[in-house]
Amino acid sequence: MAMQASITHWTTLVVLVCASLIHAHSVITYPGYRGNNLHTNGTVAETNGLGVAYDPKNGSYIFPYGMEWIYPCGGMPTSTNRTKWPIRGGALAVQPGWFPGHATALIYVNLGFGETPENMSHPVVPPFLITGPSNNPYPGTFCLPQVPLPANISVNVGDKATIQVVETAKHGAGLYNCVDIIFAEVDDPEIEEVTRDNCFNSSDISFQYMYTTAPIGSGAAMLKPPQNTLLALAPILIAVAFGALM
Ligand SMILES: *[C@@H]1O[C@H](CO)[C@@H](O)[C@H](O)[C@H]1NC(C)=O
Ligand SMILES: *[C@@H]1O[C@H](CO)[C@@H](O)[C@H](O)[C@H]1NC(C)=O
Ligand SMILES: *[C@@H]1O[C@H](CO)[C@@H](O)[C@H](O)[C@H]1NC(C)=O
Ligand SMILES: *[C@@H]1O[C@H](CO)[C@@H](O)[C@H](O)[C@H]1NC(C)=O
Ligand SMILES: *[C@@H]1O[C@H](CO)[C@@H](O)[C@H](O)[C@H]1NC(C)=O
Ligand SMILES: *[C@@H]1O[C@H](CO)[C@@H](O)[C@H](O)[C@H]1NC(C)=O
Repeated sequence: MAMQASITHWTTLVVLVCASLIHAHSVITYPGYRGNNLHTNGTVAETNGLGVAYDPKNGSYIFPYGMEWIYPCGGMPTSTNRTKWPIRGGALAVQPGWFPGHATALIYVNLGFGETPENMSHPVVPPFLITGPSNNPYPGTFCLPQVPLPANISVNVGDKATIQVVETAKHGAGLYNCVDIIFAEVDDPEIEEVTRDNCFNSSDISFQYMYTTAPIGSGAAMLKPPQNTLLALAPILIAVAFGALM
């Protein structure tokens, strides 16, 4: 019974996702992404409830709940087509409304260092809450024009890293997306220019800062709420309509 409902639910998702794919968008819209992971296949019965399992008949993996839920990069392995990103940090644009259940979503942005990072344990901005127009899939992006590097981490031109974006749904499950980067000089012509077309805040997605217990390093600066709110005991809502800033 529950499984039936679940399968129906996922069939609906697949249909919605396929419909969205016509627009050929990705979750991380700037500076790029590992590849399309808006994909669900196999059944929960085949994996006995696991999020991912090897299908020996087919010689590949199946993701009955959807690839995007798999830590750390939504079922996608390290890519070879890295994109250049400024050595002092740069822009990050995300389309958060791909799946149902994201009328509100917590967003985390982390870095992992190296060719294939051992972990994604370097947060670069404090987690924040977004509010979208609907619990159904919706278009639109938010963009952080200057995501800094973690405090006390220095990188060189040519160093490799991975940017991980985690987006929790209303029920708490996390969607994972990554882009593999290679650090480049700020004025490297191969860094895709940041423009109003690839880095913008949609007017119907708003930010709400979260209660933070402690600064997390240099990354805290850009999204830091006013000082007095740090004392609050509950999430602080400082809704800022994106559109107002652009
Ligand atoms: C890397 O290649 C994949 C598969 O072709 C593509 O979907 C993705 O956009 C590429 N990513 C970058 C950063 O170029
Ligand atoms: C795996 O199965 C899918 C359909 O379920 C099929 O499209 C695909 O070609 C198969 N892959 C292999 C390697 O057999
Ligand atoms: C399931 O989808 C993944 C991602 O597209 C693919 O790599 C894999 O081969 C698929 N598995 C089957 C059994 O079709
Ligand atoms: C995460 O990986 C880095 C190397 O990129 C390492 O220095 C650090 O100790 C690791 N942190 C944790 C919590 O494992
Ligand atoms: C989008 O809104 C956030 C939060 O207010 C802000 O930090 C960021 O700079 C805005 N992005 C753009 C492109 O204005
Ligand atoms: C950065 O390094 C300084 C000096 O070693 C230290 O006091 C500070 O706590 C470090 N910050 C972080 C976020 O690790």
